[in-house]
Amino acid sequence: MCGIMGYTGKSQASAVILQGLAKQEYRGYDSAGIALRCDGRIVNAKIVGRVAELARRVRDLPPECECAVSGIGHTRWATHGGVTETNAHPHESSDGMVVLVHNGIIENSRDIRSRLESEGVRFITETDTEASCQLLAKLYRERGGDAHSAMSRLTASLTGAFALVIMFLDRPDEIWCARRGSPLVAANDGGASYCASDPTALLDYTHDLFFLEEGEMALLKPLACKFFNFDGSPREKESVSLNWSNVMTDKGRHEHFMRKEIEEQPDVLRLTIDTHTVVTTVAMGRDFNLPRGIMKKIRRVQFVACGTSHYATLVARDMLESLDRELDTRVEVASEYRYRDVAGGDDTLAIFVSQSGETADTLAAARRARAAGTCCVAITNVRGSTIDREVPHTLLSLSGPEIGVAATKTFTGQISLLALLVMWLLKDRGTLSANDEARLIGGLRSLPTLLQEILSREDEIKALAEKYSSSRGFFFIGRRECVPLTMEGALKMKEIAYLPSEAYAAGEMKHGPIAMLDDKLTVVALVPDTDLREKTLSNVEECRARSAPILLFATEGDLDALDFANDVFFMPRTERELIPFIGVLPLQLFAYHTARCLGRDIDMPRNLAKSVTVE
Ligand code: M6R
Repeated sequence: MCGIMGYTGKSQASAVILQGLAKQEYRGYDSAGIALRCDGRIVNAKIVGRVAELARRVRDLPPECECAVSGIGHTRWATHGGVTETNAHPHESSDGMVVLVHNGIIENSRDIRSRLESEGVRFITETDTEASCQLLAKLYRERGGDAHSAMSRLTASLTGAFALVIMFLDRPDEIWCARRGSPLVAANDGGASYCASDPTALLDYTHDLFFLEEGEMALLKPLACKFFNFDGSPREKESVSLNWSNVMTDKGRHEHFMRKEIEEQPDVLRLTIDTHTVVTTVAMGRDFNLPRGIMKKIRRVQFVACGTSHYATLVARDMLESLDRELDTRVEVASEYRYRDVAGGDDTLAIFVSQSGETADTLAAARRARAAGTCCVAITNVRGSTIDREVPHTLLSLSGPEIGVAATKTFTGQISLLALLVMWLLKDRGTLSANDEARLIGGLRSLPTLLQEILSREDEIKALAEKYSSSRGFFFIGRRECVPLTMEGALKMKEIAYLPSEAYAAGEMKHGPIAMLDDKLTVVALVPDTDLREKTLSNVEECRARSAPILLFATEGDLDALDFANDVFFMPRTERELIPFIGVLPLQLFAYHTARCLGRDIDMPRNLAKSVTVE
């Protein structure tokens, strides 16, 4: 959601900034802009559309802009004010002294605006951001050009969430940053300083990154980055080394990042299992600092997350319940957990799952749980992210950077780590039998090969997608361990193919949704060979009797399934609790190829942002 890139050094600033913005396109945006310091003035270019269009506009700027060695850029995901060039960032103050980009929402922008307007300041945009820009210019003037003091006063005056990146006209080579609520990362490679919303934008230059904390400001100069509290006092800061390679953020031979990331799932599984197991025993890495014996006093476990991460936690709940039905285990969406009166305290363990580690609702939920004295664990894919820094016990999922907006390999990274964490917790509680531990770890170890086998049959799924892409919509149905899969399958279809898709526990169909069925609404039924196979097939029959085309996902060898469906895709057999690990892959591919048939923008679907950093 909004991408920021700032640069001050010796290279061509426009090239560095455009490249940084391109790397962050996946965050989701509708317009973009850049401001460059050229020959003592600041030159702006803005467009509605893609970064490639902004690059064309930059080529038309006066020739001296090619020599600019500092500047800031932004991709905007509109919140306040329409998608127009005027509303695109960077914004410039009326006196031309301040130019600024922003990610977040300034909640008191209306008040600031009306105060400044009554003092004669003329606003030209409809954005909340312009209020912070005009206010900073006023504070800077009032303080005789003391940037430190003006920044401190500005941050004290704003309510809401912000990552602000700023240039002052009369301060060459300097870029100022401030963060509260929205992510911002800075870096210095010896000759230049950078800042961005997302670490992937900086990996071409350095892997040593400074993640700005809540209430922190930074001053970037070519030779160093300095950090301060909002009150202006200096702050010592350690860099974090991110071991992601640049290749990981490259599409390589693939048409889409999503397709590349789907294919990486066997490797994600292998790495996760190798890192956290020894032969047939679970062994969470040394970095995991949840004290042993903690589960003796825990009565409740809560899993809290949003979107795909939430569905990953449903998989974990199913596994936990199947191994220990005494423990009170709940799953909550973070946007509700943060406002409900949920039980907490030191007999409660809350597990927060967020691939980005920056989802506003998940962060707020974790803060609430911590305030209640609940023991909190986070699972995130991004070292140094806000959740990693704020939650005392963090486990890093090992998916590598995910660029496609639709989560795929991070789901697999999460469910594999959650499965191992669940085993660790139950072992600590004394309720995991050595048999179950060995059975599940053995099952996990066989998964990469099984996923590879499904990938080798991608053409079958592609053909199914081509056949069903003219459907009016989809119902995804299944029972128990397949319910999270129905949700994830439907979400993938909605977000990248834009086709209406509903997910239902198969037994619920008769209670209303079946009324919608006709020959244009395809039912995708997940019917693995478990004790619930017959029951689910009965539900499938009921759908077939209402003329709905049926696409069945069954277990290999279950040839009778062919009698119940128009088409069947056979999945390899695995342990019951591990069925979601296998089932998610064909559903991802099905959504991917459907979206491809329909010519959708797969990696950057309309209206979506990769990480949802505002409420
Ligand atoms: O970064 P998070 O895991 O906290 O993100 C949560 C959701 O926004 C995310 O899973 C979203 O639903 C996916 N991009 C959907 O594919």
